[in-house]
Amino acid sequence: MISKATIQEIQNKIDIEDIVGAFVKLKRRGSNYLGLCPFHNEKSPSFTVSKAKQIYKCFGCGKSGNSISFLMELEKYSYVEALRWLANKYNIEIEETEATPESKIYQQAADSLFVINNFGQKFFSEALFETDEGQDVGLSYLKQRGFREDIIKKFQLGYNPVGGDVFAKAALAAQYNQDLLQKSGLVVLRDNGLKDNYRERIIFPIHNQSGKVLGFGARLIKSNDKAPKYINTPENEIYVKSKILYGSYFARVAIDKADECLLVEGYTDVVSLHQAGVENVVASGGTSLTPDQLRLVKKYTNNLTIIYDGDGAGVKAAVRGMDLALEEGLNVRLVLIPDKEDPDSYVNKIGATAFKEFVANNKKDFVIFQLGLSLAEAGNDSTKKATIVQKIAETISKITKTEHFTKRQDYVKQVAEMLKIEEAGLNDLVNKFIREKVQKEEGRQIAASNEEFANVEQEITENTGLENLFKKDEYQERAIIRSLLEFGLKQWNEDITVADYIFKEIDDNELELMIENENLVSILHLYKGWYLEGKKPTDENFLYYEDVTLSNLVINLMDSQTEISANWAKIFEGKIATREDLFREEVLSTLAYFKLRKLKKLIIENQKELENALSSEDQLLCLQTHVALKHAEQVITKELGTVIFRL
Ligand code: UTP
Ligand code: MN
Repeated sequence: MISKATIQEIQNKIDIEDIVGAFVKLKRRGSNYLGLCPFHNEKSPSFTVSKAKQIYKCFGCGKSGNSISFLMELEKYSYVEALRWLANKYNIEIEETEATPESKIYQQAADSLFVINNFGQKFFSEALFETDEGQDVGLSYLKQRGFREDIIKKFQLGYNPVGGDVFAKAALAAQYNQDLLQKSGLVVLRDNGLKDNYRERIIFPIHNQSGKVLGFGARLIKSNDKAPKYINTPENEIYVKSKILYGSYFARVAIDKADECLLVEGYTDVVSLHQAGVENVVASGGTSLTPDQLRLVKKYTNNLTIIYDGDGAGVKAAVRGMDLALEEGLNVRLVLIPDKEDPDSYVNKIGATAFKEFVANNKKDFVIFQLGLSLAEAGNDSTKKATIVQKIAETISKITKTEHFTKRQDYVKQVAEMLKIEEAGLNDLVNKFIREKVQKEEGRQIAASNEEFANVEQEITENTGLENLFKKDEYQERAIIRSLLEFGLKQWNEDITVADYIFKEIDDNELELMIENENLVSILHLYKGWYLEGKKPTDENFLYYEDVTLSNLVINLMDSQTEISANWAKIFEGKIATREDLFREEVLSTLAYFKLRKLKKLIIENQKELENALSSEDQLLCLQTHVALKHAEQVITKELGTVIFRL
């Protein structure tokens, strides 16, 4: 693990303008910098960088964070990778310290797997090029398929010899750990010994974004009914299939340049297209795209072009992932390769130039394509056609982002024409699906939150009209943490600080009971820990905190506009009061609302108990509790000096 001192040093050197500026062209605008957001597609800049606060925020897509989360988000780095990148940039030597036992074990396994894979890749490449068997069996096969040596070397293809344990022996001789070797999938335990899992296969190493080998795909050379065509690395610490796109390491620059990502099914398709000079291409491995893979594409471009063979099952698989792509705002196009060919065989058949032309001339909008397909299938069947209208309206309704409004309208227009139906009618139907989706989401949120709480909140809201204060369950949770971070170190009175006061007013157990958002609880615990250690924590301590969820949450908290409510919007020492001026009132009212919520909950619980109480003694006890709770509620309400609750 990277030592605290090193992290500190990195943090001291970090300049967000510098970091973000390496990826985004920034222009000065007042005290901030402005540029085109790298996280979503936009024409006019809404991505803001604050040098003073060392944070960024996009007013278009809402993403915000610090230098480290910027690197993590954009470059898909882990926290540690981002730190290493920064250390490298600022020439800071990294000092390592002991990690927690679990993360150490995990990290060690991951590191070792990379080392083993690297060893494997080198071994297989050498076996392919330097041994007679490799040349006769592996290399001749690849060459006969038309792969050039430079491309074979670029993709680091290899060959696992026939013997049965040729690789396993070499790996054991090199002293690699047996368990890890099995984990890597390169060997399997059979008949009390480690055997090669990929024997007599062509090896396709699969690289991560920085070119390290995550795992392998191993292809049979002689077709064989009994064995699968490909064996792939099993899921382990570094090989997570749902996050991998084969070829992305070799494609990223070209995708960026072309502002388009081509998606094919197979390893060989990627390699062949590269050889033909088409380098902006990745493969999904024949399955439908996962959200993580879509995100990976979206990192580079909004234009995804799927190139699949026309009658393969692949298109059907691809279709399944595509509603998600639309939701993400990707422009999805489809090119179908004719005549039972796949991109690899087709580019070999017609040549690079003709292939590129074919792709350029045969791109079809995915939604329109899907519609054409189903229309052809339906023929004159009017029931089927009605179903199609419903389906396509639902698909179009996935485009919900406001910035894609025109795109949605274009679809409605085109589709209405193709279906020969009224544009307005189709529009209504699309809107209906959007409404339903929104309602469903809202429903889910309510169901997820404690039902009693929802009732309590509604009751309070109805009684007071404090819609804004109670709109979200989290509002007060966030407010209290924000007060702590912002005002905690200020003096509450001569003797104690605001933090002391908050901790005195609400004890730990209560807070945990009341705060439903676990991340807010974590922030509170961290704060309290630091505070009690004598540090002087503020939101800045979280700015580079290693758990990026927490640091982003804090940035978000501090950044969110807090309206000064009507009764606070008063004159303070001759000017309109700011939150700063009125921090005591803010803390008091935040605490009061917080307590009210708890009281309401207790009152309801108590009422339930009363209903179920059998003995008159129990009933009396409940009634007394009720009176006490109501009294407490009254006191707080009075303190608040706002609307009177109905009692
Ligand atoms: P294909 O059968 O199209 O293979 O499967 P391919 O890559 O084009 O290979 P060639 O050209 O026939 O030699 C497409 C992809 O599906 C996955 C692999 O990722 C493959 O590249 N696949 C296929 C498997 O994982 N296992 C299999 O048994 C078959
Ligand atoms: Mn193929």
